[in-house]
Parts: sequence; C-alpha cells; structure tokens
Amino acid sequence: MHTMLVTGGAGFIGSNFIHYLLETYDTVRIINLDALTYAGNLENLRDVESDPRYVFVKGDVRDKETVDRVFEEYGVDTLVHFAAESHVDRSITQPEIFLSTNILGTGVLLDSAKRHWSLRPDDKYCREYREGVRYLQVSTDEVYGALGKTGMFTETTPLSPNSPYSASKTSADLLVRAYSETYGLPVNITRCSNNYGPYQFPEKLIPLMIHNCLADQPLPVYGDGMQIRDWLHVADHCAAIDAVLRRGRCGEVYNIGGNNEKANIEIVRLILAATGRDESLIRYVKDRPGHDRRYAIDNTKITTELGWAPRYTFEQGMAETVQWYLDNTAWVEHVVSGAYRDYYRDMYDNA
Ligand code: NAD
Ligand code: DAU
Repeated sequence: MHTMLVTGGAGFIGSNFIHYLLETYDTVRIINLDALTYAGNLENLRDVESDPRYVFVKGDVRDKETVDRVFEEYGVDTLVHFAAESHVDRSITQPEIFLSTNILGTGVLLDSAKRHWSLRPDDKYCREYREGVRYLQVSTDEVYGALGKTGMFTETTPLSPNSPYSASKTSADLLVRAYSETYGLPVNITRCSNNYGPYQFPEKLIPLMIHNCLADQPLPVYGDGMQIRDWLHVADHCAAIDAVLRRGRCGEVYNIGGNNEKANIEIVRLILAATGRDESLIRYVKDRPGHDRRYAIDNTKITTELGWAPRYTFEQGMAETVQWYLDNTAWVEHVVSGAYRDYYRDMYDNA
C-alpha cells in the first residue's frame, strides 16, 4: 500500500486528485498537507474527511520541521506536489509570494524526500533510495512560454517563461531536475495545460465567467479575447498523474494536454449560451501584461508510452462543470465572500 503525501490537496486540482485516488484505490493512504491560503478550502473534501484512508495536516511546505515530521510520522513513500501560488494575475502584482512558495517550498520538499528516502542519508555520493519511492512535481505548460499561430509544446521545447508565476514554476522544475541529476532522486515532472472542472476558484477564467453570468455581472475579457488555451478536464489530469506515478519512467518529464484549443472569447460565448445569457454582458478590458498568446500541448509521449488519453469531450466536461456550479451555489457564495470581493475590485475596477 502506498502512503502518499499530497501537498495543496485543499486546492482545485489537489482536492480532485484526492477524490480520484479514494474512488480508484481501496488500499491507499493519503496525507494532505495544505496551508489553507485563500485558494485552499476544506469544503472541497467534506465528503472524505472521515475516510480512514485520509489525513489532513495544516502546514506550510516551506516549513522544514513540519515537512520532516510528516515524512517521519506517516512513512511517506510517494509525494505529489501540487501546493503553489497558481494565479498568473496575482503573480503580476505580488510576485514575492510566488518565489517563496513555488521555489523555496519545492526545495524543502525535495530535500526532505532525499533525506528520508536515501539508503545512506549521510553519504553525499549515495544514489540509492528505498524501493518504490517517487517524487512527482505538478508543473505547467506555461514554463515553455508562448506559441505563435502554429506549433506545439513537446517535452524538449526550451523553457521560456514569461510571467513571475511561470518563472517560479520553471525554477521549481529546475530544482527537481537538479535533485535527479545530482542525487539520483527518483522524480517525475508533469506539465499540464489549463484545467477546468468542479471546485475551481472563481479567479480563473471558466469559473469566473460562470459565476458572473449567473450573477448577471459583466464578463471581463482581456485584450481581444483571441488568446488560445488547451483545455483539459481536471479528472483527465488526475488520471494522467496516476499513470505517470504507476508507469512513468524515472527522471522523465511528461506533457499533459487536452487536444482542445479554444480562444477565450469562444469559451465566454459557450458559457453565455449554457447559462442563457446574451453577449451584452461581455466587456473587453485592458490586456494582462506579458499575456501569452497561445498554448498547445503535444501529448504524444504520454499517450504512446503510458497509454493515457483524455476521456472527456469539451462539450460534456463544460456541461457538467456549469451544472456543478449551478448545483453548488453555497460553495460558490462562500468562496466569493470576504477577501474575494477586495481582490475582484482591485483587479477589475480600473481595467
Ligand atoms: P490552487 O490555487 O487551486 O490550489 C493551491 C493549493 O495550495 C491551495 O489549497 C493552497 O492552500 C495550497 N498552498 C498554497 N501555498 C501553500 C504553502 N506554502 N504550503 C502548503 N500549501 C499551500 O491551485 P490549482 O489550480 O489546484 O493548481 C495546483 C497545481 O497545479 C499548481 O502547482 C499549479 O501550478 C499546477 N497547474 C495548475 C493548472 C490549472 O489549470 N489550474 C494547470 C497546470 C498546472
Ligand atoms: O496553462 C496552465 C495554467 O493555466 C496554470 O499553470 C495556471 O495555474 C492556471 O491559472 C492557468 O493559467 P492561465 O493564465 O492560462 O489561466 P486563467 O484562467 O487566469 O486565464 C485563462 C485565459 O483567460 C488567459 O488567456 C487570460 C484570460 N482571462 C482570464 C481572466 C481571469 C480573461 O480574459 N479574463 C479574466 O477575467
């Protein structure tokens, strides 16, 4: 049985991943380490909190003592690192916390994993680790920068991040690579495209537009709305991470994408139609500084090597997602109260 440390498990993808694991495997033990920032929400896990296979620890990934204690107390053999500051717009106004959480936090986790899993922790030449241990870094396609009208990101595309968020995620990826090269730590990096689905915080495009449509509020579209993202349902992302953990070759990077490129304005129009609103709600606002024009993932490596492929069509995934936000108004109302209102005003009032 695996004992898996999931960092950031109270966030959007982390909580979906914990649900996925508990639904898929009878014998698994999950330790969710989360600092519960504005993006962390234990309501995402209310239905599993008394499951004996699941434990929540409130703590910061930058806190070495807490991380070491979790390794020792629970005998962690697998680490899936989701915890991060994840929103590009916030990284433009407050970059420091991105550097601290995303880079230093990753450094603390890698070092703790190395010390606890090494067969001879005091020997700097030792490259042998306990049988079956694995560190998986959940990264992003944004580390590759922006594409023009054509082309796709492969695992060998040069890293060329453009925002403080993506630069911090790239730095973290390079630390993971360094622990693999220098110490032989068994690692993987996954680089995924834009996710959507249940429990996503409404600062991100899709839940923000659904929420604003339902509240009959303006829909802020950056620039000309023709930026392209490659959308993937979060359940498909979770299955891909699981495939990498089970069958991925040690030390390898795997790109994960939905084969599903859409311009932002197409997404906005789809949400307007799904919620029965009209285009008078659309507001074109100032563009995001340094806005990446297009992302697209080449999935060839993960599909051919590991047999993973996205299962959701975008039509099905979006219909279910809109319905989830309609069915979970209490969850939405809770997360958009308080600090979200200040964030929204600061972000959009002068746009
Ligand atoms: P999120 O913002 O919804 O959740 C982040 C979680 O991390 C929250 O629960 C938060 O409380 C926790 N956290 C933040 N700082 C912490 C700290 N110092 N210590 C412990 N916990 C902390 O993020 P998400 O959208 O679920 O993304 C998860 C991961 O996936 C991130 O690493 C992100 O870079 C990556 N990713 C996201 C997407 C996407 O479309 N959302 C796509 C590709 C990759
Ligand atoms: O590509 C993977 C990345 O996807 C992840 O690494 C990030 O954690 C995640 O936040 C996401 O980044 P994006 O910047 O692509 O996502 P966001 O939802 O913020 O924006 C999607 C697109 O929509 C982008 O082109 C900006 C645009 N947008 C966004 C918002 C919030 C708008 O036009 N209006 C908005 O109000």
